[in-house]
Amino acid sequence: MKALTVVPLTKDSARLDDIGEPPESDGPVLVQTLAVGICGTDIEILSGEYGWAPPGHKRLVLGHESLGKVLEAPAGGDLAVGDYVVGIVRRPDPVPCANCAVDEWDFCRNGEYTERGIKQHDGYLSERYRIQPDFAVKVAPALGTLGVLLEPTSVVAKAWEEVDRIGGRAHWAPKTAVVTGAGPIGLLAAMIGVQRGLDVHVFDQVATGLKPDLVAALGATYHTGPIEESVKDPDVVIECTGVSSLVLDAMEHVGTGGVVCLTGVSSGGHTLSVDEGQLNRSMVLENVAVVGSVNANRRHYQAAADALAAADPAWLGRLITRRVPLDRWEQALERSADDVKVVIEVTPS
Ligand code: BGC
Repeated sequence: MKALTVVPLTKDSARLDDIGEPPESDGPVLVQTLAVGICGTDIEILSGEYGWAPPGHKRLVLGHESLGKVLEAPAGGDLAVGDYVVGIVRRPDPVPCANCAVDEWDFCRNGEYTERGIKQHDGYLSERYRIQPDFAVKVAPALGTLGVLLEPTSVVAKAWEEVDRIGGRAHWAPKTAVVTGAGPIGLLAAMIGVQRGLDVHVFDQVATGLKPDLVAALGATYHTGPIEESVKDPDVVIECTGVSSLVLDAMEHVGTGGVVCLTGVSSGGHTLSVDEGQLNRSMVLENVAVVGSVNANRRHYQAAADALAAADPAWLGRLITRRVPLDRWEQALERSADDVKVVIEVTPS
């Protein structure tokens, strides 16, 4: 079967390979892959900057934002042939650490977790894959190929859960949220913010085109300048770019008692000059909390499924700006300013 594989940490090593059928050791559920979304992490892996092959292998099958259809499932379980499923990305570490032991693998303490398509476990960008039933999340068939948005939505569902739990350390009735970045993660974070009844403001660099339109269609407000010029004292900032100046901006301008949640992974080597004393002073005197958030556990996939079910399917459909057949996977890596989510169609729809 065909699979998109890469030699981790080796630039331009990606190729469409012919590989064997998925190993039984991956689980009793056999899935036909329908579509796989491409995100910043995949681009990093393809650029040779991130990723780990499975032990004893040179190449890694890419792909962690999946949607597939069950071909085989154990009798008597929750999954049946024909179900639409999304594969969870992370697997708990084998020790297991205290968090993985209670299925909170997104908070793995020892770093020995694996991630499909990213870290030491082949991903979902092959014509078929196998999976353990506990790591396959059923999605409503009505969503169709929009189910491919479940994994990125799970990442922001976790971010919102963190915001709520931390905000809830004192009376918490947030009204205003800022989201930095109008890529898929930012737009999905904004969607959940609007679903919660918040006044949501999205900041990005592009001034015209699809991104401002999508934000307006959500009922949120789009901005291009610095946060402080447009929104005073937001209760929540969800930072979705990883751009250091925006991270600092968020920390400086969130309101008293506010929560800043960082979801963007930045590259190193950016040094900014900052008045640390002033920043520390304002964070202490205003009880500001800054939290990093990565990955998602099963509870977050469920929350994400609820968020997608409550969203306007037409709006979600506009997030998928291009669908590229597997044979032309290279086109999925070319980005135009108006691209939001590019999806590789493994099985033509
Ligand atoms: C994935 C997460 C993963 C993270 C770090 C993200 O792109 O969505 O599931 O934990 O990369 O590897």
